[in-house]
Amino acid sequence: MAGDDMQRTAYNEQEAERMEQRKLGTQGLAVSAQGLGCMGMSDFYGSRDEAESIATLHRAFELGLDFLDTSDAYGPFTNEELIGKAIRGRRDKVVVATKFGLMRAPAAPGSGWAPITGICGRPDYVRSCCDASLKRLGIDCIDLYYQHRVDSEVPIEETVGAMAELVRAGKVRYIGLSEAGAETIRRAHAVHPLSALQNEYSLWSRDPEDEVLPLLRELGIGLVAYSPLGRGFLTGTLKSPDDFTPDDYRRNSPRFQGENFRKNLELVERIRGIAARKGITSGQLALAWVLAQGEDIVPIPGTKHRSYLEENVAAGSVAISREEMDEIATVLPGGSASGSRYPESMMKFINR
Ligand SMILES: NC(=O)c1ccc[n+]([C@@H]2O[C@H](COP(=O)([O-])OP(=O)(O)OC[C@H]3O[C@@H](n4cnc5c(N)ncnc54)[C@H](OP(=O)(O)O)[C@@H]3O)[C@@H](O)[C@H]2O)c1
Repeated sequence: MAGDDMQRTAYNEQEAERMEQRKLGTQGLAVSAQGLGCMGMSDFYGSRDEAESIATLHRAFELGLDFLDTSDAYGPFTNEELIGKAIRGRRDKVVVATKFGLMRAPAAPGSGWAPITGICGRPDYVRSCCDASLKRLGIDCIDLYYQHRVDSEVPIEETVGAMAELVRAGKVRYIGLSEAGAETIRRAHAVHPLSALQNEYSLWSRDPEDEVLPLLRELGIGLVAYSPLGRGFLTGTLKSPDDFTPDDYRRNSPRFQGENFRKNLELVERIRGIAARKGITSGQLALAWVLAQGEDIVPIPGTKHRSYLEENVAAGSVAISREEMDEIATVLPGGSASGSRYPESMMKFINR
């Protein structure tokens, strides 16, 4: 091996060794303390470049980040295909989490973001989705399989019963739910132990703290925190809703619209001030804050750029003092964001 290559390998191995691991649930699932949200590589947040997305995934592996998050709904379908391509020959380096149950129709070209057409938790649907995801991902077992949204027409026992069958068949290792209500989590966990609940959780989305997080801790279930950067807002790099491309999902989201956007910008400016005093970015402060909320919580920031990934990974070594935590709490107390986190048409799918 050439000298330079050897140096680079040694450097990467050191970096990989530094990446903390966290346990999700009590069934044995261990992942890097920070995962990588892959949704934006195929969907939701404007323009994208496949080569840079794949380079970002490979850089994540070099940095010891092994926990990838996708769903059959992202694209739809194309995000799983992209992950499949990126992990070929690297299966042993990654923990693949995907989801079923949120149905979307592909958007017609130029027509904007593809809307949700339904939620399905029927056992036959669960089984067929799993087979299709395995095929797109090019793997024979999904490490963590979530129901993306709870189907209120199908008893959770039936859906989770089908997921448990997939575990017994060796097609899935661990299971979880996303945005489920407390009662549903309890009933699901009684059928088959859940390893994780995936919910939005960040400085400006604190809903799990009231009821769900205490329940997860009682039952021994991990929390995977999605949109930990507030869909990019908490990084302080978004300046105007007019900057979004026509197909950017955030155009539909109340927090990113008009007066809400302006008010939220004021909050982020204050968070940016605290971060600047520490010599870090506001995005790093937002991630360090999530990481500090408990070792049972794993944030999965999303990016399709290597530079952002490296910045986000570096947040893993940021410590926040008690005084800084108190200051953050006065700037952004729970529930202080302006605007709900989903449009009304999508709020009905959460917490049920
Ligand atoms: N279960 C669910 O219902 C659900 C819902 C939403 C998301 N998720 C999952 O959670 C993952 C993460 O959430 P998310 O992607 O919605 O939101 P996020 O992680 O809060 O933010 C992603 C946005 O932040 C930008 N960004 C990332 N790092 C940055 C940095 N260092 N500086 C400036 N901007 C930065 C990204 O830009 P670029 O993309 O341009 O790099 C992207 O626009 C998703 O990828 C998905 O896998 C799950």
